[in-house]
Amino acid sequence: MKITVVGSGFVGQTTAMRMLEKGFGSVVLIDIVEGKPQGLALDMKEAAPVEGYDPTIVGTNDYADTAGSDIVVITAGFPRQPGMSRMDLLGKNAAIMSSVIESVTPGSPGAIVIVVSNPLDEMTYLAAEVSGFPKERVFGMAGVLDSARLRYFISEITGARPSDVEAMTLGSHGDAMIALPRHATVAGKPLPELVDEAALEQLFQRTRDGGAEIVALLKSGSAYYAPSASVVAMVEAIVNDTHATLPVCAWATGQYGIDDVYVGVPAKLGRRGIEEIVELDLNDDELAALREAAEGIRAKCADLEKL
Ligand SMILES: NC(=O)c1ccc[n+]([C@@H]2O[C@H](COP(=O)([O-])OP(=O)(O)OC[C@H]3O[C@@H](n4cnc5c(N)ncnc54)[C@H](O)[C@@H]3O)[C@@H](O)[C@H]2O)c1
Repeated sequence: MKITVVGSGFVGQTTAMRMLEKGFGSVVLIDIVEGKPQGLALDMKEAAPVEGYDPTIVGTNDYADTAGSDIVVITAGFPRQPGMSRMDLLGKNAAIMSSVIESVTPGSPGAIVIVVSNPLDEMTYLAAEVSGFPKERVFGMAGVLDSARLRYFISEITGARPSDVEAMTLGSHGDAMIALPRHATVAGKPLPELVDEAALEQLFQRTRDGGAEIVALLKSGSAYYAPSASVVAMVEAIVNDTHATLPVCAWATGQYGIDDVYVGVPAKLGRRGIEEIVELDLNDDELAALREAAEGIRAKCADLEKL
């Protein structure tokens, strides 16, 4: 597989490194800053003798090198600074997303595009619009990250191993994120049996604010270790055609009563991209919250037209 990562900032470079370490195929790292992707790629190649992976990475500023990619991961764009919301990035990152899509898609017309740049839901919509690709080949990463954060916070308060915690978030990447306590388990036990309502609400709020918590601590830039691990989990499902069900920002076509909008939902991923949006058994409140999140995203996508 040939996988291009657009943007060699913190998320892009850690994503490239994780993919090399996992031996997913050949990786192209591209950025507008001259020398940056080349320097990072050389550094990763020099780690190959120690780590034992194949040094199959190219750093470049030239989109010709990305031609024939099977997967394109887009991390180009500005991250948040303290006090900013993801939505504050809309105007600047929309211009970057459009130019990246126009540059990368002609050479890779069959690629699967995974959007990472924020605001995630709106940038995914824009990437789909500008590329004209079928929507099952354009989707966004947010739910795997939000769910990982929630799973970690649950492990912290219950003392369980993080990998023994199962939990999923849906909706949007932001304040309209929806946590599903009825579907969360700790070593197989339902989460609501282990923590009270107040603790649950605190966990969910900390997850919604998870990105901002790290931005405030870093003071410059945003999270990248958990984000890159989350991107790589999605790429792995595609490369190995696992049909894994992961929370993905996907184009809804009637599932959950939601039509024609990108929103965070569970989806099966494989070589062709999104194979199916999985419909969980949601109660009325959860369903209403998911539909409200979808309408919020629809309104913001309409704002994109005015830029
Ligand atoms: N979806 C998520 O869950 C999630 C998680 C973390 C970060 N993000 C987002 O990912 C993006 C990247 O974050 P980061 O921490 O890597 O930022 P960063 O500033 O470290 O890196 C961004 C990179 O994009 C490059 N770039 C800018 N314009 C470009 C263009 N036109 N073509 C190619 N490259 C270009 C910059 O030169 C820079 O190297 C941000 O928008 C951030 O908000 C999303």
